[in-house]
Amino acid sequence: MNRTLPWIALSLLAACSQDSAAGTTGGADILKRPLGLEGVELTNNPDNPLSAAKAELGRQLFFDPRLSGSGTMACAACHLPEQAFTDGKALSVKDDGKTNTRNAPTMHNVGYYERLYWDGRAKGLEANVLAAWKAQIAGKPDEAAARLSKVEAYKTAFQQAFGEGPSEKTVVHALASFLRSLRSGDSAYDRWKAGQKDAIAEAAQKGHDLFMGKAGCIVCHTPPLFTDRIFHNVGIGSTAEKPDIGAAAENALNDASRTGAFKTPTLRDIAKTAPYFHDGSVASLRDAVKLMASGGIANPHKDPLLLDRGLTDAEIDQLVAFLETLSGNVPFTAPAVPK
Ligand code: HEC
Ligand code: HEC
Repeated sequence: MNRTLPWIALSLLAACSQDSAAGTTGGADILKRPLGLEGVELTNNPDNPLSAAKAELGRQLFFDPRLSGSGTMACAACHLPEQAFTDGKALSVKDDGKTNTRNAPTMHNVGYYERLYWDGRAKGLEANVLAAWKAQIAGKPDEAAARLSKVEAYKTAFQQAFGEGPSEKTVVHALASFLRSLRSGDSAYDRWKAGQKDAIAEAAQKGHDLFMGKAGCIVCHTPPLFTDRIFHNVGIGSTAEKPDIGAAAENALNDASRTGAFKTPTLRDIAKTAPYFHDGSVASLRDAVKLMASGGIANPHKDPLLLDRGLTDAEIDQLVAFLETLSGNVPFTAPAVPK
């Protein structure tokens, strides 16, 4: 019944197979920009400058069920590294037994967003992490901090990273630092852009030209992050009995003109993050692309930028082939969660 058991097993394995200093999320390379993302700036919280020690600590905490209310669910339960930190489910169940109303998104490149969550209600990564800690895994920060304080390895690691012990603030800062280190670039597409002519196949190159031209995807899925980081209504979920109003919500953008609008998701690593859309309603990438290329789902608030592009089946295949070249090279090793 314990969903986190495989992680514990993995962690033990990792602990046996690597010397303790290796397998970090980047060490001194923590600020190195991946190929393709050289020109984009990470968000920076002045209270939480990025360091390798914080990111490494956050990597362990992300996999540690001690943070949760029940003591059994880690962040990684829904954000699995091999699926670009998604979980393959349309909607996942939280620590309190309730089911989410939205699909778990990738953690890759979240360090580049000022506004997070599908509806933009989180202002900044630290705010998002604290909210996820409380809502997804029913975390009670003070109780969790007390639990972590009893673990020798954590006591040392928090001191090294922050000069102080576990607390709501230091846990949040460590998790956010880890997430800022998950940068996805250096994909086949990035290598092709950088001049390696054979990095992507001809079908993918045709898909690239469609994406940037006739298919109009570039308007919202703007390179290099493949998102404009803003909110659009493309009609997903609009036919539900009680549609999700998305970014229009009072605690989000509080803007009625954004009814049913959601954050443009990045298309980097899209081949690994099925099912698709904010409600996880579409199982295959090809079907998701087809829906977008045919203009989304009509509704009174639909974004006029999204049009039916009249693409052929062969052109849809080319778009898919292109999107498959956007899987990045994100160095990652499962951590050893301290005992
Ligand atoms: C039970 C599944 C589940 C668990 C466990 C979980 N999340 Fe999530 N996460 C989600 C879902 C679902 C969303 C999207 C919610 C929304 O947008 O309304 C999300 C969104 C996020 C986002 C926003 C990403 C973006 O692009 O906007 C971040 C950051 C995040 N989670 C971090 C965490 C952290 C840190 C933890 C552990 C404290 C955690 N999550 C635990 C399901 C989960
Ligand atoms: C008007 C802006 C806009 C345009 C143009 C656009 N998209 Fe999107 N796309 C979005 C938004 C917003 C979503 C999320 C919608 C939701 O879940 O409610 C999305 C979702 C997606 C998804 C699912 C991503 C995920 O992680 O679930 C794919 C795949 C996709 N779009 C591909 C394309 C392709 C291919 C094109 C060009 C044919 C395109 N889009 C054009 C805004 C746009």
